Amino acid sequence: MDFLSFVTQARTCRRFHEEKPLESADLDWLIDCARVTPSARNAQQLRFIEVLGKTCKELFPLTHWAMALKDWGGPAEGERPTAFLGLLIPKNPAPTTYIDCGICAQTIQLAAHSRGYGCCIIKSFEQNQAQSLLQVPSDLQLELLLGLGVASEERKVVDVPESGSLNYFRDANNVHYVPKRAREELIIARFVD
Ligand SMILES: Cc1cc2nc3c(=O)[nH]c(=O)nc-3n(C[C@H](O)[C@H](O)[C@H](O)COP(=O)(O)O)c2cc1C
Repeated sequence: MDFLSFVTQARTCRRFHEEKPLESADLDWLIDCARVTPSARNAQQLRFIEVLGKTCKELFPLTHWAMALKDWGGPAEGERPTAFLGLLIPKNPAPTTYIDCGICAQTIQLAAHSRGYGCCIIKSFEQNQAQSLLQVPSDLQLELLLGLGVASEERKVVDVPESGSLNYFRDANNVHYVPKRAREELIIARFVD
């Protein structure tokens, strides 16, 4: 498949087949995909926590999903993530460490999509409670959680509507739509000589 088609399909996923749980080997593979990504100074400061089973169920209520969908309380029982990956960075990180973290998160989201798994990058979570649940060492902080599972949600990219709203939305069939700006709106200059 053309990479543009692949990355267009690899949207944030917030509903999963909870009856088909991911396994530890799946998370190991996702971390293998992340560990070979670019890293500033090749310092490779990120660390990971794999979360499955009972701890996954305990972590879920500490995470916040799709705050822009006011009428939706997050994934219901039966459609919740079956795994989380915690992405950890050192306390007082270098600014470039946040960039490394983003590169890893997107790489994992793409890798997950290549296997039919969905991924939601989550920054909005109860950090103190999550760190305590996951026994995060005192020299690290939990920067992102990635909610993962076999994807069950239909998601589509659409053009930004005339109103200019960038809010994602769902239709009557619960298809999830994500407006993306047009290329020409993004390119502020072209030097072609
Ligand atoms: C750094 C970052 C933090 C995010 N945090 C959350 C979050 O806490 N909860 C959530 O439901 N989605 C979260 N998302 C997903 C965004 O809402 C999503 O990327 C956006 O709606 C665009 O949809 P798309 O990923 O399908 O393009 C986050 C995404 C990024 C990149």
